[in-house]
Amino acid sequence: MSSLGPVRDDELGYDGEVYALYVDPAFFGQGAGRALLHAGFTVLRGRGFSSCLIWAHAKNPVRFFYEAMGGRLVAERVQRMMGDPVPEIAFGWRKLALAERTPAR
Ligand SMILES: CC(C)(COP(=O)(O)OP(=O)(O)OC[C@H]1O[C@@H](n2cnc3c(N)ncnc32)[C@H](O)[C@@H]1OP(=O)(O)O)[C@@H](O)C(=O)NCCC(=O)NCCS
Repeated sequence: MSSLGPVRDDELGYDGEVYALYVDPAFFGQGAGRALLHAGFTVLRGRGFSSCLIWAHAKNPVRFFYEAMGGRLVAERVQRMMGDPVPEIAFGWRKLALAERTPAR
């Protein structure tokens, strides 16, 4: 599943945002995440957006996925969740295009 729409923090110069992106763990590593993000970018483009931001927990290994998709680390922040500090990092795409697949490893 994925949810997306207008960026919530427009100070970074991006107009669209993917708020959440989740693949069923039974299907990890089979291309579903890439296909889902690709579809999300197509939806954003269709709604008139031209760029995308995604926030993730700083310690989430998902950062490697976003880097493989061509996202650039563009910001860091600390949010408060039930009183506890939660470090987050943001990945940005200036254009709604993913990096090409890396050759088979
Ligand atoms: C992150 C997530 C969406 C990736 O989905 P996926 O279907 O496993 O990813 P894909 O199979 O499409 O992989 C796409 C690319 O990312 C790379 N990749 C994926 N996870 C990776 C990891 N943990 N470390 C390094 N590279 C990774 C793959 O090598 C692949 O590269 P390629 O397309 O160039 O060959 C999935 O792991 C997930 O739902 N995680 C839990 C939820 C989550 O953390 N969501 C993000 C909240 S912000």
